[in-house]
Amino acid sequence: MNALTAIADGIVNLDDHETHARTMLDANAWAYFAGAAADERTLAANRSDWSHLQLLPRVLRPLAGGHTRVTLLGRELAHPILLAPVAWQRMAHPDGEIASALAASALQAGLVLSTQSSTPLEDVARAMGDAPGRGPLWFQLYLQHDRGFTRELVQRAERAGYEALVLTVDAPCHGARDRERRAGFRLPPGIRAVHLDGLPPAPAQAQGPVQSALFDGLLRQAPTWDDVAWLQSVTRLPVLLKGILHADDARQAAALQVAGVIVSNHGGRTLDTAITTASALPRIAEALQGALPLLVDGGIRRGTEVLKALALGAHAVLIGRPAVFGLANAGAHGVAHVLRLLRDELEIAMALTGCRTLADVSRKVLLHPATGDFTIDSKS
Ligand code: FNR
Ligand code: LAC
Repeated sequence: MNALTAIADGIVNLDDHETHARTMLDANAWAYFAGAAADERTLAANRSDWSHLQLLPRVLRPLAGGHTRVTLLGRELAHPILLAPVAWQRMAHPDGEIASALAASALQAGLVLSTQSSTPLEDVARAMGDAPGRGPLWFQLYLQHDRGFTRELVQRAERAGYEALVLTVDAPCHGARDRERRAGFRLPPGIRAVHLDGLPPAPAQAQGPVQSALFDGLLRQAPTWDDVAWLQSVTRLPVLLKGILHADDARQAAALQVAGVIVSNHGGRTLDTAITTASALPRIAEALQGALPLLVDGGIRRGTEVLKALALGAHAVLIGRPAVFGLANAGAHGVAHVLRLLRDELEIAMALTGCRTLADVSRKVLLHPATGDFTIDSKS
């Protein structure tokens, strides 16, 4: 099936992309991309919490000249949708991260490239190009046990033109990935995290009796708040933290003057039964009081849900799995189609809630989640 047939084949929303992608991916890749941690309660709850928030339509407001533009880290973006970092995209489609970059560029979406990309960051930056109006290009960083190696990776991203670093802080170890273990997940031949080539082996475990393979192994090198400050000291790029769910962590991030916070539970892939992002976002927004740019991801599948995220205080949103499913279905065309659908739906949702621009989007578009009442706030 060619790309255009796949897109025309009754695929009209992001869930249709997911359903179709299941027929395109083998069981191994499906377990990795679609799965999450343990009983996958957070995976499911992320989605249901967004969908259960109720919107309040408004009528007869002037809508002419409306748009989805938003300013983020000092740049004006055509719309507030970015592609989240997702590892090993060549496992979804041979064009992998290059296809995602071409699509992001064409649709003026931002792109966050994973440390565990299966394509070198320089090639992705080239595919993203520098057409006027293209979305931001950021590099997601997993701090490696070898800080010199990490620093060189940061310098590579700087040289290649990446505009910010997204430090993922919610995954010092993987969650309990039951679905992957059941499927016996393994990386197919020829696909690997290319940026980790040449990473020296982790130092041997501490001398003495080992209490725990995890705590005495991987977690001895786990990043701490001091490493955030270290990273800020070795790069000229803005550093955002991805994976914040607690208001106190958001305040600590603000105290370190990070460039932004991404409310995320890693798409339910780390701590199962973790708070959903729809539930965490308003709490973090309240803690930060607008001090930092705020983004969110996890379970966003509809333009109405982008609107809800913005209403709860986010300046922009990221999508993870839907873009990978689009990629599996039709390469760059598929990712572009996903972005297009979501943006079109966002515009519809804005129009029907009487929001001409994103500056008009506030809590007032939502029935108050706790009281079930109309929310009164200062914006009219
Ligand atoms: C991820 N995510 C992720 N995050 C990150 O910081 N670095 C990474 O390499 C990856 N890799 C990755 C692989 C796969 C298969 C998935 C599904 C997710 C998390 C990702 O950036 C994002 O937080 C979630 O995917 C958002 O949830 P949705 O949109 O997938 O529901
Ligand atoms: C994952 C890692 C790569 O979620 O972040 O699979």
